[in-house]
Amino acid sequence: MSAALSDALVFFGATGDLAYKMIFPALQAMTRRGRLDVPVIGVAKSGATLADLRARARDSLARHGGVDEQAFAKLSARLRYVDGDYGDPATYAALRQELDGATHPAHYLAIPPRAFGTVIEGLAASGCARDARVIVEKPFGRDLASAQALNATIHRVFDESSVFRIDHYLGKEPVQNLLLFRFANTFLEPIWNRNYVASVQITMAESFGVQGRGRFYEEAGAIRDVIQNHMLQVIGFLAMEAPTTTYAESIHDEQVKIFRTIRPLSPDDLVRGQFRGYRNEEGVAPDSTVETFAAVRLHIDSWRWDGVPFFIRAGKCLPTTTTEVMVTLKRPPLSHLADNDTNYVRFRLSPDVVIGIGARVKRPGEEMVTEPTELKVVHKPEGDEMDAYERLLGDAMEGDRTLFARQDGVEAAWAVVEPILHDATPVYEYDCSTWGPGQADALTADVGGWHCCAPVSP
Ligand code: BG6
Repeated sequence: MSAALSDALVFFGATGDLAYKMIFPALQAMTRRGRLDVPVIGVAKSGATLADLRARARDSLARHGGVDEQAFAKLSARLRYVDGDYGDPATYAALRQELDGATHPAHYLAIPPRAFGTVIEGLAASGCARDARVIVEKPFGRDLASAQALNATIHRVFDESSVFRIDHYLGKEPVQNLLLFRFANTFLEPIWNRNYVASVQITMAESFGVQGRGRFYEEAGAIRDVIQNHMLQVIGFLAMEAPTTTYAESIHDEQVKIFRTIRPLSPDDLVRGQFRGYRNEEGVAPDSTVETFAAVRLHIDSWRWDGVPFFIRAGKCLPTTTTEVMVTLKRPPLSHLADNDTNYVRFRLSPDVVIGIGARVKRPGEEMVTEPTELKVVHKPEGDEMDAYERLLGDAMEGDRTLFARQDGVEAAWAVVEPILHDATPVYEYDCSTWGPGQADALTADVGGWHCCAPVSP
């Protein structure tokens, strides 16, 4: 379909958790910015009414960022609601009515993937899918085969050019900055390769547990929840070749290429952990072997990266909530001047946004010795920055696919983790507020251990 602006936004799962936490705040922000001037139709099966949905939207905003009365009044006036079973044709007949002549709506499936097929068929049979876009949320499957099946289900009705797969990490400013910082600065590119980089580490630490999402988490685990998607996207931006500026799919092509160049993970490169107490969470099996922590070592078989180990460590109930990338450079010659590896480039992606370049300078005094320092840029978010969901929903409605995952990229990312799914290694228990099981330290023993995370900047 053409890149026309979507003329209605339909969101399935309107009374669910994702809508409550993420979608309503994004809708209000889009309205405030004048980026949402069309009917917004919630669909769910909950026995709710439009008045209930408006009340829920207000409640969600009060808890997540605050109610902007002016924007909320506009949003609330545009809000419609269809209550019905996703398998019932009457639901889609009611949706058609609410679409009120819209000819190219965007349908956002904020629902579990098992319901995708039913909704997509309902949309197709009722004519609501014609000239429409579809926005879907991760997880895009549970493994390669189910991702392929899911894609086939979607493609039965929607062409790939109309499919918008949200990985909200791609919508984050500091994640996009990884790509831009690399290619907008002449000093970086000559050293961004196996000749100068010793290792790369990414830590995604969360100090909280599964926050009532035990049932969801049992189906996922850290590898499926954040490594196959968010973390690999970060590696993609860190490691890909420069996209060209001459055609729109170039970034996707480079993402796919880098994912295909990552060697499928071996169980030898994996340590899994589970925080003590996880098994007592609601919805979690008493003998669950699902990991809440995973550390992996990846190898990228490319001309640029051959031999450079990439590490990812992600977990719940760790000592802090921080996501950080550490690119450690090789020691300079005459390295007796340095006690340890303090030549590095550090990207703190959250909660604060920092780029730090670790260097050594002469310690003032008579001795010819050095000490470590860090050249640092701290980004202070200014009032009204777009958050990831606002940006991605707006882009989807405009038909801009740059920041969405493409089918072949999703499948290539599954192929990387495929050998370590299904309890490939034992799961070790760890205490909350520690850095996961001690076994994970062995992975990085050859590169001086894990490097994360300096305290959050004041
Ligand atoms: C989600 C995962 O995709 O990302 C969560 O399902 C995780 O488990 C979250 O907590 C992290 O997102 P952010 O934006 O808070 O880093």
